[in-house]
Amino acid sequence: MRKICMIGTGYVGLVTGACFADFGNSVLCVDVDSEKIELLKNSVVPFFEPGLKEFIERNTARQRLGFSDDVEWGIRESEVIFIAVGTPSLPDGSADLSQVFSVSEKIAENMTEYKVVVNKSTVSVGTGAKVADVVRTHQKKPIPFDVVSNPEFLREGSALEDFMRPDRVVIGATSDRALDIMSEIYRPLYLIETPIIKTNLETAELIKYASNAYLATRISFINEVANLCEKVGADVNVVAKAMGLDGRIGPKFLHAGAGFGGSCFPKDTRALIKIAEQAGSQISIVEAAIAVNQNQREVVFQKIQKMNESLEGKCIGFLGLSFKPKTDDMREAPSITVIEKLIQHKATIKAYDPVAQENAKKVLKDIEYCQDPYSVAEHTDTLVVMTEWNEFRELDFPRIKEVMNVPKIVDARNVYDPEKMRELGFEYAGIGR
Ligand code: UDX
Repeated sequence: MRKICMIGTGYVGLVTGACFADFGNSVLCVDVDSEKIELLKNSVVPFFEPGLKEFIERNTARQRLGFSDDVEWGIRESEVIFIAVGTPSLPDGSADLSQVFSVSEKIAENMTEYKVVVNKSTVSVGTGAKVADVVRTHQKKPIPFDVVSNPEFLREGSALEDFMRPDRVVIGATSDRALDIMSEIYRPLYLIETPIIKTNLETAELIKYASNAYLATRISFINEVANLCEKVGADVNVVAKAMGLDGRIGPKFLHAGAGFGGSCFPKDTRALIKIAEQAGSQISIVEAAIAVNQNQREVVFQKIQKMNESLEGKCIGFLGLSFKPKTDDMREAPSITVIEKLIQHKATIKAYDPVAQENAKKVLKDIEYCQDPYSVAEHTDTLVVMTEWNEFRELDFPRIKEVMNVPKIVDARNVYDPEKMRELGFEYAGIGR
């Protein structure tokens, strides 16, 4: 059992803290946001993540998990300190590391004995070394410490499962002392034979960016293939399925759709390009992936436009708004770009999302929010499936057809069978089919 302090109670910090507590460690999650800490003390989770509330309740009750707004105290009390603060995009695309460095200073100032400082936040390559410099120069007197890079690979919506049964754990550290401590806090994963990659700081930092940029590139690749499919009369779902059966390719992340969004892929692809640029190198395939992803939103817009001779005065209904299912996250959601463009073209918008509606209201103000898919469909000229929530898979389509002005569907996530939809009397457009 190790004493861990998790600095930052955002998505990554909370999930990681709760899971380490579940492994039997003693975890204190700290944040300068006192209001948020008060909520967390009552197991109120400020975002939607299946199972997280129960995890927090269970570990709080067993007194392995605590919350505090006293960051200094958290640092003094713990041996392993995780930095899990935000690293948003700067206007030039690089990651804003100011919070990482200010936390590093705080760690240095409150250090009284050996600490392992672990970077969980996604940071540009070379940041671990800089954190070590910052800690060294801000210490009141020289005290030994180690800096470790331990990137996260958590998907929103399945973060607990991803933490408990990961494909791999990456630990960037060179000191045996730090490696031993890291191995101990991850012990339950050793027992289930999770591959653990131990490497240097820079390699660990780059693994994170390379992984996310590769996945983003796969999505853009299949989206471009989808657009080609439409031109030549092929079906992208079958192409992707057959490609995925090749053991060298694999089936995942080959779903054509509206493109990637969220808090990671858009930000990390931009940051990787900046990292390459600053290193005098180039990563043009990722630049192309970003451009294709932007264009994919335009592709969805054009499908809606094509179905309606003029968009002016038309009512377009949206099923799903979040960037993907099982999350209330609206960050860089394709729905925002498509809806804004429709509004510019004087269409009116109705929408329903099972959990992202409250967050959506902050960014998409001029639309009518509905309580279920059927009220969205009422008097609309086109229905657009933007997020593949399970509850949209089996709808009462005769009822939907009945209440729409005209039965037209743009299925931006390829949820439905095109033949069946046409048999039901809908004008239907999917992606690449
Ligand atoms: C991602 C990474 O998967 C995770 O490892 C990382 O640490 C954080 O970023 P997340 O952003 O939660 O996780 O979402 P993910 O499930 O990876 O999906 C990202 C985007 O790609 C979504 O917008 C999704 O709709 C889209 N996507 C995904 C596709 O369009 N097609 C696919 O085949 C897969």
